[in-house]
This record gives sequence, structure tokens and C-alpha cells, in this order.
Amino acid sequence: MEKQKFYITTPIYYPSDKLHIGHTYCTVATDAMARYKRLTGCDVMFLTGTDEHGQKIQDKAKEAGVTPQQFVDGIVDGPRGVRDLWQLMNISNDRFIRTTDGYHVSAIQKIFKAMYDKGDIYKGKYVGKYCKPCESFWTESQLKDGKCPDCGREVQDAQEEAYFFRLSKYAQRVQDLLENTDFLEPRSRVHEMVNNFIKPGLEDLCVSRTSFSWGVPVDFDEGHVVYVWIDALFNYMTALGYQNEAHDDLERYWPADVHFVGKEIVRFHSIIWPAMLMSLDLPLPKKVYGHGWLLLDGGKMSKSKGNVVDPYLLAEKFGVDALRFFLLRTFPFGSDGNFSNELLIQTINVDLANDLGNLLSRTTAMAVKYFGGTLPEAKLADEAQDGELIALASGLRGRYEAQMEKFQFQNALAEVFKLIQRANKYIDETAPWVLGKDIAANGARLSQVLYNLLETTRICGVLLTPFMPESMEKLFAQLGSCCQSWESAAAWGSLSQTVTVTKGENLFPRIDLDKALAELEELQADAAQPAVEREPFMEDVDFETFSKSDFRVVKVKDCQPVKKSKKLLRFTLDDGSGTDRQILSGISMYYQPEELLGKTLVAIVNLPPRKMMGLESCGMLLSAVHQERGEERLNLLMLDDSIPAGAKLY
Ligand code: MSP
Repeated sequence: MEKQKFYITTPIYYPSDKLHIGHTYCTVATDAMARYKRLTGCDVMFLTGTDEHGQKIQDKAKEAGVTPQQFVDGIVDGPRGVRDLWQLMNISNDRFIRTTDGYHVSAIQKIFKAMYDKGDIYKGKYVGKYCKPCESFWTESQLKDGKCPDCGREVQDAQEEAYFFRLSKYAQRVQDLLENTDFLEPRSRVHEMVNNFIKPGLEDLCVSRTSFSWGVPVDFDEGHVVYVWIDALFNYMTALGYQNEAHDDLERYWPADVHFVGKEIVRFHSIIWPAMLMSLDLPLPKKVYGHGWLLLDGGKMSKSKGNVVDPYLLAEKFGVDALRFFLLRTFPFGSDGNFSNELLIQTINVDLANDLGNLLSRTTAMAVKYFGGTLPEAKLADEAQDGELIALASGLRGRYEAQMEKFQFQNALAEVFKLIQRANKYIDETAPWVLGKDIAANGARLSQVLYNLLETTRICGVLLTPFMPESMEKLFAQLGSCCQSWESAAAWGSLSQTVTVTKGENLFPRIDLDKALAELEELQADAAQPAVEREPFMEDVDFETFSKSDFRVVKVKDCQPVKKSKKLLRFTLDDGSGTDRQILSGISMYYQPEELLGKTLVAIVNLPPRKMMGLESCGMLLSAVHQERGEERLNLLMLDDSIPAGAKLY
């Protein structure tokens, strides 16, 4: 029988900054879903990637003094970049698209042209407001208190010749789609879209820009680049081969089963995206699911507010699986949730160390202690004492599946943990250590009890695998690599009666809350400071202006602190002219005068003389200055001593 297809996507990320825990949240959720679907036997396509065009990236690259391509390459492929993060987090995406990939760029040009040829894209004049950080255009009436309705920041006036997409033409069809189908979930988001955006009147959308160049060029009208959201949204199809030859899976996987997206980009996915697909007579994705945000102190994390939480730091400190688990166990996927370090540590301690960790370690330890690891054959369970546990375990997969199909990860995990807690209670009720005192008399019952516990642990292990793949592999190693199939999760008794278990490492060691919190705070404060802060580059000057500066090699003949000055050093320098030159430099906190004697330095010698503390300074010594973790660092420019005084620098 042909496998059922399942195509799932994450938003493609802006590589304008390093990703934070909020981005990680959505990707981990998508990964858990993709792994779950694979477990159930589906043929899964899981796509993620990066959305690399737009003015914001162009500006950031300029600030960094690199080309936009170099800039995005650094954040996508560089150390601790996007790909590294997904690898660390054990993300099992089948494909990764970059919107700068050649095949995507040319496909977008074809798509834009096709909508133009159809008459759904036309040329007009754009007059309105533009929010640069969001790359969104707004009409006056859409603004909230004169600011961007999405992010609340200032908007700018904008007017230019531009192309427009006839979004208004599709307003009714999109409204029907939202209101009369389950295209958009959770349902609360439908009302928001219809009432805030469609009912007030859906205006045509400006879909090209001429004020910057970092984008997909409109190939039939030089100077225009395609609006970044058209470029971005079609990634879901170009990555499968739509309008290109790089891939060939469109028929197999399109339409997508679900796009997971954060709530602020639901508008693009549930209004603009279906309208464009309607324009091209393409099948619509089956569902858009708008998840909530992870908040920090009640507000959205953002690099500009300086309150982002670094997923590398948390994963390295607490383990990848613990972090993955925490994100999906703690926050209902459709709503916002407040992140805190304390909550993270408590979740690990309560659910993983106490409940799951204890169940596994106590059970395997007893199997090893009483039976050398291999359970003896025993008759099946005792109905009266074991019925409740077995019934709960046997029905778990169904309850879990019902929640997973609704993307309710938190509820699915709650079902698993109800069973884990029940199993721990069952240990207390059956008191295997009492049975173990007289194996001859109670061996058969003890074996039954341990079997029930191991089988319960196994079923939980199967269902936890999409959330914590690596740890569950270790758990199964301790359970004798027993059956881990989806089918077996609903079939009590799949574990061999004479299973052999081993007592392995403690999968989730308990964390000392206070100690870990203090350490984390320190690490996070450190990480909040950029290691090295670079001054932005200055405006260009022409060569003539530059060449007026006279830089010379100088040798230090004498160096003395200036009396009463905390900063100044007085240098007597040989500048090659035969007359000593005096320069004062405010660097006494970085150097002892005596260590500079005889050094070969660089000075600019044609600055007008300046008086400081009553002494004349004729020029300036050059040094490299930078900020490191909030502190200024300075190094005098020192040259090889073989270079003679007076040599000119160009
Ligand atoms: N490039 C667009 C998506 C284009 S999809 C065709 C984009 N990129 S983004 O990098 O800014 O955001 C990517 C996703 O991360 C969005 O879904 C956004 O909601 C999500 N998150 C960013 N911060 C978040 C939290 N603090 N919490 C949860 N998700 C958040 O938008």
C-alpha cells in the first residue's frame, strides 16, 4: 500500500541575526510533528530554510562592511549559524531552502511574470507607509496609533512606482476559505484575520520595490525587485520543484499538509498566500497553524530589545532533548507562553529526572538486582492489581494520537506523563522490594510486576521518541532494544516476557535549581554583551581627502606620565626629521611608560598642534580600539623595529 504523504514546513528564517529560542520553538515543534508522522508510517517531507532578501539584510550587511551574500552566508553557514543550530537540535528536515539559491530566484521571476501576464500584477504608484523591520507596507488606516500594527514601531512615508498584486479580487474567496473551512487554526486567528484585515477592505498589495536592490530582480523591468514576501512564500513550492528543475517532488508532496507559522505572520500565510495560489490556479495548502510566541518577562523576545534567549547556551547546559521536551511540554502550541530559566529547570527535574528517570532506573535496577537482568517467564498479569495500569497503557497511543493530530503537543505529553506517574504509583503499591525479600515464594509475582513496569516504560518510550529521539534511543538500549514500532505502542505485551535489561546511565540527572540559575544568569549576562563590538564604518571619502593625512613611522625616545593627569602619557619621538616631536596620548591605563621605550609606532603628523594640561601635542599616535564585553580595549599600532623613523604610510 502506498504510504500516506505528509508535507510540513516551518517559516523560513531571516538571517539578519542569530536565531533565538523563539525560532527554535517552532522548528522543534515541526520536527516533533515530522518525526511523529514518520513513526506512524507516513512518507514525510519536512522543509525549513532561510529567507535572505530584503532591505533589512542589505542594511545590516552594509553596516557590517560585507556584501549581503557574505552577510547571509555567515549567519546561515557560519559557526553557530542556522544550519549548526538545527544540527545541534537534532532537526530532521528533509530539505533546506535558501531564497538566494539560484533555482529559487529564477522560479520567482517566472512566478511574478505569470501573475503579471494574467493581469493579477499591474504597475501603479505606491503611496503609503512602510515598516522597515517588518518589511511591510501599510495604509494610513491600518496603522495603530500611527505606528506599525504588527510591531508597534515607527513607519516611514513611502512613494514610488511599483507593481501591485490584485489582492482585492480574491478577498471574498479568501474570506470563504477562512470562515467555511478549517484552513486556518486555531479558530481564534480566523476572526482576527477576517475582522482586522478582510472586512475593513482588502487593498491591492504592493509587490515590488525600487529603493533597494537586494532581492529577486523583476526580469522584465530593471530596477524593481520582487517584494520579499512573494519571494518567501513561494519557497514552499519552489523547494519541491515548482518552476524549476532542481527538485522533482511537487506532485508527490504538494499541497502541503500544514505550514507552522508564528502568529504575526499568519496574515501573510492565510490571506496573501492563498490569494496568490488562487491567481495561479494552484492547489492551496491544507492548513496553516498559527502558533503563539515565547515571551520573556511578558514581552516578545527581540534582538533589538536585547532580551533574546540563546538556544545554544541552554542546549549545551541542559541537553538538547531536555530543551526540546521543555518547549513542547510547557507551552500550549496555539497560545503565548512565558519562558523562564526556572520553569525550564523545574520541568526537567519534575518530569524527566523524577518521573521518567526514576521509573526507568528503579525498574531496571530491580530487574538486575532480583533476576540478573533477565525476567523469568511468568504468567500474565494479575487482573485485579494490574488492570488499571494495563488499561491506561493500552489506551495511551489513541489518546496521544488524538492530541498530536491537533498539534497539541502539550496535551499529548501530558497523557504520556499521566501514565508515567501512574506507573510510579504502581511501584509503591506493589512494593517489589518486599516481594524481592523472598524470591522463592514471590518470584513469579515480582517478575509480573517488573514486566508491567518495563512494558509501560517501553510504550511511553515509543511515544516520546519524536520529542526526545536521542534519549529514547538510550532508554531502549537499557530495555534490551525492544520493539519500538508505532503498532507496538498500542499492543500491550509486545515486550518479550523474558526481556533482558541493563542498568545504564542516568538519562536525566537532577539539576540543582539555585546553582544552575545563578550560573545561567551569569552566562546569559555575558552572552548578552557582544564579545567584540565593531564600530560602524564611516562615510566614504575621496582619495584626495584621504591622501592629505600624513602618517609616519616614529620611534619612542622617551615616555613619561603627565603630572596630575590620570590618562596622559608624554612621548618624545624621533620622526626622522632630526627634531624631536612631542605627542600626548591618553593611554596610561593601557601601558606603562617604560614598556614603550624604543618602540616603533605610527603617528599622524600633520594635525594642528593642541594644548593639553599646558603641554603641546603635535600629532596623534595610532591605535586599534575596540569594545570587548562592554570594556574598551586599546593597542598601539606597533611596527617592526627595522623600519626607519620618518617612513611614510599609505
Ligand atoms: N522570514 C519570515 C518567514 C517567511 S515564511 C514564508 C519570518 N522570519 S523570522 O525569522 O522573523 O521568524 C520566523 C518564525 O519565528 C516566525 O514564525 C516567528 O513567529 C517565529 N518567532 C520569532 N520569535 C518568536 C518567539 N519569541 N516565539 C515564538 N516564535 C517566534 O518571519
